[in-house]
Amino acid sequence: MMYSKEKQRELYDLSKTLLNQKEMPTLEGATKEVQQLHEVIVYHEWRYYVLSEPVVSDFEYDHLFKRLEALERTFPALVTPNSPTQRVSNDLSSDFDPVAHLVPMLSLGNSYNEEDLVDFDRRIHDLTKTDLVDIEYCVEPKFDGGSIALVYENDKLVRAATRGNGTMGEEMTKNARAMRSIPLNAAFSKYGIHKVELRGEVIIRLDRFAEVNKKRVAAGKPALANARNAATGALRVKNNKEVADRALEAFLYQLGYAVDAEGNDVLAQFPTHDEGIEALASLGFKVPTIERKVCKNIKEVLHFCEDWQAKRDEYDYEIDGMVVKVNSIALQELCGYTSHHPRWAIAFKFKAKQATTKLIDIEYQVGKIGNITPVAKLEPVALAGVMVSSVSLHNEDFIRQRDLKIGDTVLVERAGDVIPYIVKMMEELRDGSEQPIVFPTTCPSCKATLVRTEGEAVWRCENSSCEAQIQRRLMHHVSKDAMDIDGFGQKYVERFFEEGMLNSIADIYRLDYDKIAKLEGFGVRSAAKLQKAVEKAKANPISRLLYSFSIPLVGRTVSKILVAEVEDIRDLQAWDVERLTALHDIGPKVAENVVAFFSVQANLDLLDELGGKKEEEGNGLGINMKRLASEEKQEPITDGALSGKTILFTGSFQTMKRNDAKKAAIAAGAKALSAVSSNLNILVVGEKAGSKLKKAQALGTVQILTEAEFLEILEKGG
Ligand code: IVH
Repeated sequence: MMYSKEKQRELYDLSKTLLNQKEMPTLEGATKEVQQLHEVIVYHEWRYYVLSEPVVSDFEYDHLFKRLEALERTFPALVTPNSPTQRVSNDLSSDFDPVAHLVPMLSLGNSYNEEDLVDFDRRIHDLTKTDLVDIEYCVEPKFDGGSIALVYENDKLVRAATRGNGTMGEEMTKNARAMRSIPLNAAFSKYGIHKVELRGEVIIRLDRFAEVNKKRVAAGKPALANARNAATGALRVKNNKEVADRALEAFLYQLGYAVDAEGNDVLAQFPTHDEGIEALASLGFKVPTIERKVCKNIKEVLHFCEDWQAKRDEYDYEIDGMVVKVNSIALQELCGYTSHHPRWAIAFKFKAKQATTKLIDIEYQVGKIGNITPVAKLEPVALAGVMVSSVSLHNEDFIRQRDLKIGDTVLVERAGDVIPYIVKMMEELRDGSEQPIVFPTTCPSCKATLVRTEGEAVWRCENSSCEAQIQRRLMHHVSKDAMDIDGFGQKYVERFFEEGMLNSIADIYRLDYDKIAKLEGFGVRSAAKLQKAVEKAKANPISRLLYSFSIPLVGRTVSKILVAEVEDIRDLQAWDVERLTALHDIGPKVAENVVAFFSVQANLDLLDELGGKKEEEGNGLGINMKRLASEEKQEPITDGALSGKTILFTGSFQTMKRNDAKKAAIAAGAKALSAVSSNLNILVVGEKAGSKLKKAQALGTVQILTEAEFLEILEKGG
């Protein structure tokens, strides 16, 4: 820790005192107060920018900062170059002069899988000729931003430079000074260090990146393609206010060079990489913490890398891999360097999330309620381990905003579970042969004129007997989330439709299986299998049935809420908007759609056809219309161990899956939330908890439990 507990208390109390200062003091008083303000502001900047755990509100911090500015305005003689107010200067950066790094900034070799890591470990054994069975490694994220080298002399930041070609970089000291996670002063002398060069990566938090882009788009500027560009671009801006606005952060990951006043190398006092990084943390630098791990052998390294690969999308920053470093500096020295990279380190690269490819064509799909969705057909490209050949373009505005044309080279991204999407087209790769995208004016299926309601982004085919729409609704009806008819997918719907066997939902339940068995590609067995699946679906809960009718805005959850209120699905016919909206979680739009569905005679006829007329039990196609016991309204559990509490889980758990923990909590009366908010009562943290824990701690009102504590509460019962 950079500050002792006592020191922190002292600075905190001092801040509160300083916050009450209002009068303008004499020069003597001001000299003392300015010095005190320096100290408390540097402390709060460290809490905020390095630890991400501020102890005062933004308002209080701003107040202290403004007080310092006011004193400096009145007494200009008190302004010093290292004052917190001098981070952002008004003069434009003079230039980006080339400067030589004290030691070259090398690159890293790459690895992609277990085999590569095992090879690397074997090479390290060979190079070091050690008898050790296990070599210890320190693993940390490979931050995806711009690399920088910082030089401190006499405890002061004297120079910052970009990586450049590795030997020569470009000076960017002014921009570095605008990054509040970089201390302007750091007590290296405590370690007998006179001059030191540190390496790190400048990055931008992903939420901050989203804000920056939002502002740019609002100001008519093009959006930045990714967080990396937002960071590297800012390193070289002329106006360092822009650097401050982007709130760049510097993570330090290497002590490159350190000498005492006589010029002797003093790096050896840190026997391991990990200890060197810890020393930097103690001096106030931002270093990887929960993201860094000393692993006792290569197997542990692999697990740590794979863990991070799996959760990279939950992390606050963009990372493209992990860096594996031999922890012992003595062993590092035995390994040495190639001209390109250190032999003692290797990057473990995650599978790429972004790639460029060609936009070949656009298809227009008709949705189940007539919405027209443009879909880009792409030259197939591998993204995060999956081949992608088509992506949705959502609507016409999306195409216009990105100025897409057929033949464009486009940047595609697929992050985690997120559906792939087009980030942007590459203007610089256009050759003039690109063709404009002409949005159709008529339905590609039934040729009805498309309609776009004011205020809506989608074009719609309003012909409800449009064949494409009917097929989509049939596909939805049989789909997994709806009636879940096993094996009955898009292909069957299209085929049976073509054969004239399937025109309405009711037809699904009166298919002629003898006829199907004789169709090309079918047989007695597949027909029998299909029949069995269809028969099984007839007994489904009515919430599935309601959902299967493609009523706009009536999803799985709404369906469950609605059927909990009635005994027979057709009872909903008697409900008006007022009665529906009186239900918790049912809004007016949903209510209107439900009323509209139940007021169309054809829909009521369909229900009677499926379930038989209500009065004549047993007729019809035998589809269940009655609410099952499992669909009845759940009375809230008022006497559970967690009744009335909201709860959230983060990190990985040892004794149970996170989802099972959630179920157990719900069974004990808790309500599960999906994000940290002021409504949250309890956060249960597993291993490697990340930003959620920090956010909850910052709120100060959330009870934080370990897995063991959570289990204990469950066991004790309510
Ligand atoms: S160590 C001499 N550690 O990756 C050791 N590099 O491909 C070489 N990078 O230009 C670098 N995170 O900017 C190291 N934790 C980390 C890193 C890291 C990102 C960047 C670095 C370098 C590039 C090498």
